[in-house]
Amino acid sequence: MGDLAGKHIVLGLSGGIACYKSAELCRALIKEGATVQVVMTEAAEQFITKVTMQALSNRPVFGSQWDDRAANHMPHINLSREAHAILVAPCSADFMAKLLHGRADDLLSLMCLARPMDQVPLLVAPAMNREMWVHPATQRNVAQLKADGVQVLDVGTGDQACGETGDGRMLEPQDIVQELVAFFAPKTLLGQHLLVNAGPTFEAIDPVRGLTNLSSGKMGFAIARAAREAGAQVTLVAGPVHLPTPRGVLRHDVQSAQDMHARIVELVDQANVFVATAAVADWRPSTAAEHKIKKDGSGQAPELDFVENTDILTEVAHSPRALSGALFCVGFAAESQDLAEHARLKRERKGVPLLVGNLGPQTFGQDDNALLLVDAHGSRELPRAPKLELARSLVAEIALRLKPSH
Ligand code: CTP
Repeated sequence: MGDLAGKHIVLGLSGGIACYKSAELCRALIKEGATVQVVMTEAAEQFITKVTMQALSNRPVFGSQWDDRAANHMPHINLSREAHAILVAPCSADFMAKLLHGRADDLLSLMCLARPMDQVPLLVAPAMNREMWVHPATQRNVAQLKADGVQVLDVGTGDQACGETGDGRMLEPQDIVQELVAFFAPKTLLGQHLLVNAGPTFEAIDPVRGLTNLSSGKMGFAIARAAREAGAQVTLVAGPVHLPTPRGVLRHDVQSAQDMHARIVELVDQANVFVATAAVADWRPSTAAEHKIKKDGSGQAPELDFVENTDILTEVAHSPRALSGALFCVGFAAESQDLAEHARLKRERKGVPLLVGNLGPQTFGQDDNALLLVDAHGSRELPRAPKLELARSLVAEIALRLKPSH
């Protein structure tokens, strides 16, 4: 089951070179379980053929308001009434201007105007040259479209087809899909600010070596994504991992446990939920050598002294804001055995209202996991599932627990 299972999306293409990405977008929407009806403007057909879009969507493409395939001769009504959302991607500067004025001289604009606004949301993914994007006329149109209830997605930054570099590219297909999934998600965390830490830390021994662990950061990144889908403002502090930043999430990269501690202390006052998924190293070498430690020929390994790192979660969970209920803390426990007992004891030791237990060897680096939620009332198992699915369930659990006190 994809994230868009059961959703019927009208994918509108207006004229722009980004139409080449719409083919990929169509595939990605279908891969997530959506059915897709493509509607193209005449200008879009200059960039990509109906044949391509029909083959990918597995449905006839519509282009004209005079199309006589439907008995009632009203494609603008029929197509929009079936849709869970209309997504215009790419949305050209010209098409935005048209939407803004309620013009309806082609099927796509006619359909957008004729849609029942309270039932069929309209999302647009702008795509244009950077000068066109920053032009006051475009920016005015963006602001007005938002005021009219249109979901105007961000634009991407980078190289443009015209050879210039800047803002205005259409978002990548996967980003647009993420935005659409987030759009449909229940907004259980609206108004909340989540701070999440994720991944391992890296404790330097010398400039080229260090100690770390097998945490991939996937669970923390999934929680950040799920919380943003649920409407929260999300800040993510990540140790050294190779994962893309979830859309709409503010990310801070750190290396060592000390860096992570410092960054969390700096950011935690703005948050009202702290989710500690990071596998923070418990110890670090007491000093990191300035230069690479060389073999001295004696056959003896160098002696390393360790000092304990601050327990970030325990410190935050005992801060005045956490103790007063203004900050809700969620801890994780990576165990290798006796999960239920260790998780129960760890929750008490760390002083957190909710602790999420998992078995380290069965989760590190994997795409799925099983969780045990432990709170003052007992425990509940979330059976093995993809991490994003578990993250969404956990976010729903957090939202339930926030309601009484916020
Ligand atoms: N944690 C932390 N700072 C540390 C160590 C752990 O904030 N220096 C947090 C983790 O982010 C996690 C929770 O504490 O949310 C539990 O981490 P875990 O490694 O399971 O437990 P430890 O405290 O290291 O205890 P032990 O090694 O005894 O299992």
